[in-house]
Amino acid sequence: MIDQPDKLDLRSHDIAADKRQELLRLFPEVRTEGGKIDFAKLKLALGESVDVGKERYGMTWPGKADCFKTIQMPSLATLRPCPEESVNFDQTEHLIIEGDNLEVLKLLQKSYLGKIKMIYIDPPYNTGNDFIYPDNYTESLQTYLEYTGQVDAEGRKFGTNTEADGRFHSKWLNMMYPRLYLARNLLREDGVIFISIDDAEIDNLRKLCGEVYGEEAFIGQLIWKRRQTVDSRAKHGLSVDHEYVLVYSRIAVRLRGQEIDFSKFKNPDNDPRGEWWSADLTGLASKEQRPNLHYDLVNPDTGITYTCPENGWRYSRETMAQLITDKRILWPTKKTGRPRLKRFKEDRSDDFTNLSSVLDTVFTTQGTRTLKELFGGLDLLDFPKPVELIRLLLEQSTFSDSIILDFFAGSGTTAHAVLELNKQDGGNRKFILVQLPEPTERKDFPTIADITKERVRRVIKKLNEEDSGKLDLEGAKPQDRGFKVFKLAESNFTPWNADLPHDEKALERQLELHIDHIREGRTAEDLLYEILLKSGFPLTTPVQKLTLPLTPALSQGEREKIVYSIADGAMLICLERELTLELIRAMADKKPERVVCLDAGFAGNDQLKANAVQIFKTKGVTSFKTV
Ligand SMILES: C[S@@+](CC[C@H](N)C(=O)[O-])C[C@H]1O[C@@H](n2cnc3c(N)ncnc32)[C@H](O)[C@@H]1O
Repeated sequence: MIDQPDKLDLRSHDIAADKRQELLRLFPEVRTEGGKIDFAKLKLALGESVDVGKERYGMTWPGKADCFKTIQMPSLATLRPCPEESVNFDQTEHLIIEGDNLEVLKLLQKSYLGKIKMIYIDPPYNTGNDFIYPDNYTESLQTYLEYTGQVDAEGRKFGTNTEADGRFHSKWLNMMYPRLYLARNLLREDGVIFISIDDAEIDNLRKLCGEVYGEEAFIGQLIWKRRQTVDSRAKHGLSVDHEYVLVYSRIAVRLRGQEIDFSKFKNPDNDPRGEWWSADLTGLASKEQRPNLHYDLVNPDTGITYTCPENGWRYSRETMAQLITDKRILWPTKKTGRPRLKRFKEDRSDDFTNLSSVLDTVFTTQGTRTLKELFGGLDLLDFPKPVELIRLLLEQSTFSDSIILDFFAGSGTTAHAVLELNKQDGGNRKFILVQLPEPTERKDFPTIADITKERVRRVIKKLNEEDSGKLDLEGAKPQDRGFKVFKLAESNFTPWNADLPHDEKALERQLELHIDHIREGRTAEDLLYEILLKSGFPLTTPVQKLTLPLTPALSQGEREKIVYSIADGAMLICLERELTLELIRAMADKKPERVVCLDAGFAGNDQLKANAVQIFKTKGVTSFKTV
């Protein structure tokens, strides 16, 4: 038998298979003859740590089992590049993806696994009049294609989720669970997810996150005071002025904290050591825990004794003696008072203090105002989040080169905040937004995704205008002010339909169709990005167009062909439909690690394929696939 290249797996990443492999790696003894897991043996292997009781602690709701099927069902979709709606398509590393976030999260699994530093989401709160996207694990892409009119259908209309619906909470949970699960895989080890929510689903969401991320991943529940003035029409006479931001991280990371308010440092006594403020000296530990911090303190000048506070002092006797010698203790005149510490501005090791769990400096009205100002007074979306709120979350959890994901993007506040913060601190954070083309019933912006893109365009224009004319004194790299648009669509490659009747005619027809299984109307760029994604490369990987074979290798009558060089030559993709030995040799000479060609390029010439396998092998190509 002659050597054949492997077929590129066009399904999205199979997460369940990865997990099974991991278990088999950890417990090789549980492998069955057919390479599956023997659960009885696994229980034995895990010993006492397995809870086999009938009653289990946990959360359940109708549809939960189907959520796992939804997660595991590979996506048959792709992301089609849309340069005409993008800004600076060739250079930018920011992404706006139009589509249902469930399918999109599946498509991003392989390329963005463990790469996202921060996720912020602001999902529908399920307040009784939200549109909740209906997943159906058997036909979730089909639902989307009908919803967006990409396939012949009357266009499905989805209603809002009302409290009268018998499955009110379940529907919301069924929508959230798979998305949170898939999102977790994308987070880096030190990644953090922030989720906005209000009273309607906070208790369910906390349980859900406890299950998906683990209770130990809980960092906190921030309270955001969103309204400044009391709602006079509020139900039950209580104006609910706040909502929440839940914070989870894969490993318990520290948030960065808040910048210290230096205005409190003063120098009323003209201390030559500079400005200071009076800091607390009391400790945090009981006498049993830290006996050395429990003692009475005596002012050597006055002889007044100050009794030990309940939780002791912050410093040991020895350190305190040194502080007294250095004249850094502020002594109260009465013995009932508490001595305090003179903390000098100079001595601070950093300029941050812990973040308060109550956020009360920016309100919803600010978010509404910002969006209106950008759109010349148009009222486009209810309650967009204030840029300042998302910026604060970015400051807490990202580095200057982090990737940030928001898969319920709405008007694109997250992109706005990323671009502003980059401008402020010279950072190079990159955003990925995902937004459904949810109809708005407006002529100017027919879908919310149109609003998202236009907002980011306007923000970019505004920031560029602000920068223009400024002198670039330090030769800093220009900021990434652009975004690539991608749209969710059916895969460029038609799948083999295993459900057709197994008669000769149907098979013959399918074979005929499959000779060229590329969907009509798809461009080379469409194919290129699908191959990139399915091969595990991010959508922003540098792509270079090469013309091969370079003359003199060209034989008589042959034309030059296009080959795409991915990630500086790590992979070559050739979408030519007429492959030749010269072209194969020219590709091999570039010494890529991986090569992908169109199967149709070999036009059924098995000998050419076998030669290609050999040529690539001798030049050190580790993976040669066809599609
Ligand atoms: C509360 S809004 C987000 C507002 C946003 N934070 C802002 O500041 O403008 C939630 C958004 O999620 C979108 N959405 C709902 N279901 C979705 C889905 N399945 N895929 C993608 N987006 C979805 C809705 O269209 C809506 O625009």
